[in-house]
Parts: sequence; structure tokens; C-alpha cells
Amino acid sequence: MYKPVEIAKNTYWIGVNDRRTELFENLWPIEKGVSYNSYFIDDDKTVVIDTVEAGKMNDFFDKIDSLLNGRKLDYLVINHLEPDHAGAISQTLLKYQGVTLVGNKKTFKILKDLYRLEIVGHEIANEEVLETGSHKLQFILTPMLHWPETMMTYDMSTETLFSGDAFGSFGTLDGGVTDEELDYEVYEEEIRRYYSNIVGKYWNPVQRALGLLEGTPLSAIASTHGPIWKKHIGRMVENYKHWSNFEAEEGVVIVYGSMYGNTEKMAEAIARKLNEEGIQKIKIYDSSKTHQSYILNDIFKYKAVAFGSSAYNGIIFPPMESLLSKIINTGIKNRIIGIFGSATWGGGGVKAIDEFAERMEWDVAGESIQAKGGPTASDLEVCEEIAVEIVKKLKQ
Ligand code: FEO
Repeated sequence: MYKPVEIAKNTYWIGVNDRRTELFENLWPIEKGVSYNSYFIDDDKTVVIDTVEAGKMNDFFDKIDSLLNGRKLDYLVINHLEPDHAGAISQTLLKYQGVTLVGNKKTFKILKDLYRLEIVGHEIANEEVLETGSHKLQFILTPMLHWPETMMTYDMSTETLFSGDAFGSFGTLDGGVTDEELDYEVYEEEIRRYYSNIVGKYWNPVQRALGLLEGTPLSAIASTHGPIWKKHIGRMVENYKHWSNFEAEEGVVIVYGSMYGNTEKMAEAIARKLNEEGIQKIKIYDSSKTHQSYILNDIFKYKAVAFGSSAYNGIIFPPMESLLSKIINTGIKNRIIGIFGSATWGGGGVKAIDEFAERMEWDVAGESIQAKGGPTASDLEVCEEIAVEIVKKLKQ
């Protein structure tokens, strides 16, 4: 029996937790799971905002049925069509005959192209308001946050913003649903990891949305993933300003691709010197072992990186190539970079990182170094010089 979870007046969380899926988008590890949040507004007209991933549909329908208590579902508002939220749309339309689907022009186009659903619904314009009785829902178009059709729904009567993916987090909702019931610190890493992995590329739409929301009274931000923000609204808005401007804290992320340990030795030399120079926030990752999801999270957190690679068949070591490609795709700006690596003949790794740094317009610390095979004492001294230059730039 579903016990209603009220998050604002007559507004209920009807989401589900997923602790079973290994990879979100079949790409990003979610060992702490994820929630697919959906909401029900109990008014003269009944409203559901977004659905859930298809595998969790039955729990979702049980919650809707319990709240409807025999009444009809009037509106299904679709803020976002990615299958983690839209997976249950066709079944929802079948089950709740006569429900009116509310979306924008692009919603209906993507429904047709992606889901092969040709639906006549209520097509809203930007800032249009839908009155459902005592609630007034205003629709705010936020394209590319995270897909072209993405919009937010603002309930003017409860000052609740249904924000879609924006302000979301990985991690299931364990017991609590709002941040008044949960510990922010438990979610902190997963909030940034979600931002850096999923939303980070769309920094420009994030800034546009923040501009649109400026001055809007907010009592709750109800995202499609993670806690509903009430206590930490200001903190989450500041996070989004900070990250979308690529601001970061003092610290260094060292990532290397090393087959036989030579490039790894250089990474250790850089890390030790950084520490001797007073840096304590240092993270070292072997790109073959740690999923880039976590590395990317730290690159959003810290201001400097040092990237190293061996050569592999005349090119950069493949896991490093994959990481650089993701960073290019995300368009991360304003980072300091030190470059190192090793090759016994040919090369390719260091050259690729040099080209990457130039393309990204990152601030290169010192001279990049490619050791010939095992690093010599003088190669390791160059690594230390890179570390010293990184620290100088961090302190500027
Ligand atoms: Fe949570 Fe872009 O879907």
C-alpha cells in the first residue's frame, strides 16, 4: 500500500528507485543507484509530471492509482523525453484513457520520431500557464537542458519548480525524499558526478536557465533525479553557477595511461613534488582502472590536471584517448595542465596530449616531457619542474 509522500501542498512524489541498473545511459556507473522522480498534483484537475523508466512502471502506476482513488487522470506533463522519464508514457496513455498530454512543439515531434507515438495533446508555448484549480502551472522552455524538447514546469501556487534533469543527482532516495529528510553530504559527490557526466556539456543552456529563473520565488526544486531541494536551493543554484562557469578549487587531478609503469613513475614524481610544494588535494588515477565518470567529476572539482600517456601503436594509450575525447565533447574550460609520458620508440601519447591542450586552450605548466622508455633522473626532474609550475599557476 502506497503511503503518499507530500513534498508541497497537494503535491506528491510518485517516483521510484533503481538499485539494479549498472550503467546509466548504458555508460555511467551508478553503484549508488538513481531515482526516477515523478510528481502528482492533486487538484480539481489531476496532474502527473513526467513518468519513470519502463522497468519500474508498475510501482509508479500503483502510486498514481492510490492518489487518484477512482478519479480520472486529467493531464500528463512531459518535461523531458529521455527514456528514464518517458519510458512509461505509452503505457500511461493506455492505462489512463482520456488523459491529455502536455508538451511543447518539440515534445510532440520527438515522441513521433523516437517513440513512434503520434499524439494530439496540448501544445504549450513558452511561459504559458495551465490552471488546474488552485494550482497554476507555468511552462518554461529550456532547450538542450538536456535535450531539445526539455522544459521546466513552475507551480506558481506552491513555488515548486519541476526542473527536469537540472539540479539532479545520482543516488537513490533512501528513506527520505526531500533534503530536509536527507543528508546533503551523502549526496555531494553524486550531485557533481551527475552534473559533470550528464549536464556539464550544456553549460550554456544551464546559464540561460539560471538567467530565466532569476527572481523567481522558489520553495522547492523537484528534479527528475535525486533529492527534492528545499533547504539547499541556494546552494544548488550556486553549484550550477560555479560549474557552468568552470570555476574550480585548488587541487590537482593526475591521470595516466601506463602499460608497464614508466609513465606511472612520472605521475608519482609529479604528485610528490606537488605535495612538497604544499598541495594536499591530489588525486591520481590510472585511466585503465577508474571509469572516466569519476575522473571527470574530479576535473570539474579541481583547477589543475596532469595528464600522462605511454605510446600505444603510435598513438595515445586508448583509455586516455577516450578521456580526452569526453573532455573535448564536454568543452571544459580554464584548466591548468601538465603533460608527461613515455615512449621507447615512435611516440604518440605526449604529442596527442599537447594537441589536446592547445585545442582546449588550457594553460600548460612547464614543458611537456616524453621519457625514452624508463624515466631517467633528469626526466623525473622535469616532472618536478612541471609540478612546481602547476603550483605557481594555482597560486596566481
Ligand atoms: Fe534523466 Fe536526460 O534524462
